[in-house]
Amino acid sequence: MIDLSSFEVPTVVKHAAGAITCLADEVKSLGCRRPMLLTDRGLVVAGVAEAATRSLDANHLDYILADRVVANPPVELVDEVAEIYRAEGCDGLIGLGGGSSMDTAKAVGVVVTSGDSIIDYEWADPQPIQRPIPPLICVPTTAGTGSEVTLWAVITDPKRRIKFNVGGTRLIAPRLALLDPRLTLGLPPRLTAATGIDALTHAIECYTSAYAQPWPDAVALWAIEAIGQWLRIAYEQGDNEEARYQMMMAAMLAGMSYGTESAGAVHAMSQTAGGVYGLPHGELTAALLPPVMAYNCTGEPRKYARIAQALGEDTRDLKVSEAADLAVTAATRLVQDLAIPPLDDMGIPPADIPMLAQLAFDDPQTVGNPRHLDVAAYEGIYRACFGD
Ligand SMILES: [Fe+2]
Repeated sequence: MIDLSSFEVPTVVKHAAGAITCLADEVKSLGCRRPMLLTDRGLVVAGVAEAATRSLDANHLDYILADRVVANPPVELVDEVAEIYRAEGCDGLIGLGGGSSMDTAKAVGVVVTSGDSIIDYEWADPQPIQRPIPPLICVPTTAGTGSEVTLWAVITDPKRRIKFNVGGTRLIAPRLALLDPRLTLGLPPRLTAATGIDALTHAIECYTSAYAQPWPDAVALWAIEAIGQWLRIAYEQGDNEEARYQMMMAAMLAGMSYGTESAGAVHAMSQTAGGVYGLPHGELTAALLPPVMAYNCTGEPRKYARIAQALGEDTRDLKVSEAADLAVTAATRLVQDLAIPPLDDMGIPPADIPMLAQLAFDDPQTVGNPRHLDVAAYEGIYRACFGD
């Protein structure tokens, strides 16, 4: 039996400055009469959610607003919101926000169609999800996670203190990703930086993964190049619409490069540490990217050389290994320019390194990493993050 490689993008992507004004039309065209709009309280207070509700109200659409999404959404939240979805007789989902809102929407979709609790649908072989989720429209308000096109939702299990993956199947895919860069114009620089480096990490990890293949490689390289060109500008000039548009496209393409596969060591580390401390995914990922790249670049030197080129480094006349090193240099400089705080400043005690290294090693995303890793290697990378 041949193990076929495959890649598909089941989600339709629509994008334009002001795209959010078309939300109601898109809801109707999916046949939804009573969607649930999932978002977080912060976006309601900031007036961003109003851009969505204005479209729904103007078109007299009946909808349920659930604004209780939190960062690192836990099992209990997903199960409770699924209960509300059922009780209110909803027939579709809108996930508006960063990865937490969109992942919660996907996970609620799994529970309402497949039953019981989201804890029963952690990715495994055989795949526990057997039914498609209801129609889901994802509207990102950051340019980072790419969840609007990924086949994954990341959910936190507070009992095990881990984040686990749900999906890896088209059955969880959003039907539509509606991308409006204007929704990110007010994003603070710190969040722009962290989410932007998270997107860069998705592209770099998928491009250099053991599961890499040409189609996702193509979109990942485009994303790396765009982030190299535009992230600093989006950070320094938050109201630059072109920079916001390019970053939103890059984050979407970086998310697309996942396919049904996983990322690599950065995400093995950031997801497990995020589950322990409840820290924001973007900042954690961004702080971990350069030390992991320094470790990994000898595992995929040719691809690292291409990454260096995509990030704007001049690699002419260099040996492949020298060009590969420049990818690490470029990513390190970018993270420094964006003032990403080091792990020490996030309150992670260095004494936890052995525990964190073991958790990262046990994470399924270790498997696709381009260079062999054991617990000792993870400890070394963590120590490099603390500057020891
Ligand atoms: Fe990520």
